[in-house]
Amino acid sequence: MPTVSAVERQRDIYLQGLSGQMPLVPSDPLALERAAQKCMSPEAYAYVAGGAGRELTVQRNREAFKKWHIQPRMLRDVSSFDTSIELFGRRLPAPILLAPVGVLDLCHREADLAVGRATAQLGLPFIFSNQASVPMEEVSKVMGAGPRFFQLYWSKSYDLVASLVQRAEASGCEAIVVTLDTTMLGWRLRDLDMAYLPFLRGKGIAQYTSDPVFQQMLDMPEEEGLVSPKRRITLKTLQAVYQLMNNYPGSFFGNLRSGRPLRAVRQFINLYTKPSLNWDDLPFLREHTKLPIILKGIHHPEDARRAMDAGVDGLIISNHGGRQVDGAVSTIEMMPAIKQVVGDHFPLLLDSGVRTGADVFKALALGANAVCIGRPYTYGLAIAGEAGVSTVLQNLWADFELTMRLSGCARVEDVRKSKIGSGKSEVTRSH
Ligand code: GLV
Repeated sequence: MPTVSAVERQRDIYLQGLSGQMPLVPSDPLALERAAQKCMSPEAYAYVAGGAGRELTVQRNREAFKKWHIQPRMLRDVSSFDTSIELFGRRLPAPILLAPVGVLDLCHREADLAVGRATAQLGLPFIFSNQASVPMEEVSKVMGAGPRFFQLYWSKSYDLVASLVQRAEASGCEAIVVTLDTTMLGWRLRDLDMAYLPFLRGKGIAQYTSDPVFQQMLDMPEEEGLVSPKRRITLKTLQAVYQLMNNYPGSFFGNLRSGRPLRAVRQFINLYTKPSLNWDDLPFLREHTKLPIILKGIHHPEDARRAMDAGVDGLIISNHGGRQVDGAVSTIEMMPAIKQVVGDHFPLLLDSGVRTGADVFKALALGANAVCIGRPYTYGLAIAGEAGVSTVLQNLWADFELTMRLSGCARVEDVRKSKIGSGKSEVTRSH
């Protein structure tokens, strides 16, 4: 199993410093974001970094971690240690997964391929985005046996849902992660004020344009409602059309002649989300896959209970990195109540706001089996492609390893037991 050694990582970085070599990818999360911003277009950065509304949920996701404090325990032999965990029948070298993030070519031209290579090398699961820039089959090819899951955006077309899930199985994905919180896009001020949505330029729709069911639907005559009203043609329109033709598979002129890319975007916009999604839809998914089903976007204990009753296999407490409901609760603050509902033997993951090893430790101590990270790896991708993603992941992993050992925990199991009053390292809430 791949390993990362925090001590070796520190040594390498400090030794490189002796010859004046500074890290290209900062370990400080804020410096990481700033460095990435310099490598991205303003629209790309706004899309990735932004959240819903005034971004209070984005802030709260971070702030809430500060309410919890680790109480390290001393004189425990932590010379040998193990950061690995078991999740859905697979041993993972660290409790860290990569959350699905769409349109990764906004960060780097190698997009999902770079992330796939980096994660496969480290043995950490990559949750393929339903809004990926590269079809899942191509990413799977570069990942070998590397662990991967597939994020499903439940489309209005059940046939498309079935097709995506079937392709995910055939691509070696080991779980289906259904994102529940994006039945519509949140009200994102940065994107609105730049009037920029990547999908309209044919970006982030590769899972659709590579799908046989989606393609078949494109062959059918367009419904009236799908045809958008005529707009004034400007130089910007022509640029957008140029991008769209290039982003669609096939030759530029062939695409221009067929008009298929434009129809694909219209069809995508019409059916990529399903506002009517509800509990009664879940059996359809169960009938169409043998893979574990994980619901992502839960943050109410009653929804957690209902999900368990519905027979799903795991949950991710998530508010989509604060991109959907401004003013929503943070994920870490909901962890104790949800853990109480799901108990000790049900896979429970947390995302939204995880930036440091201490955050990972706190999430695990409060009941998470693992965490997902999102924006930080996209920033690594923007700065240095595959190597950048790898650096971000190794830094987080090393930081977690040190936090764990310096708190007196040799294994992840010890971190999990370190609840208030349990006798191991203690996490206590400040008032
Ligand atoms: C889509 O998943 C988004 O958050 O933009």
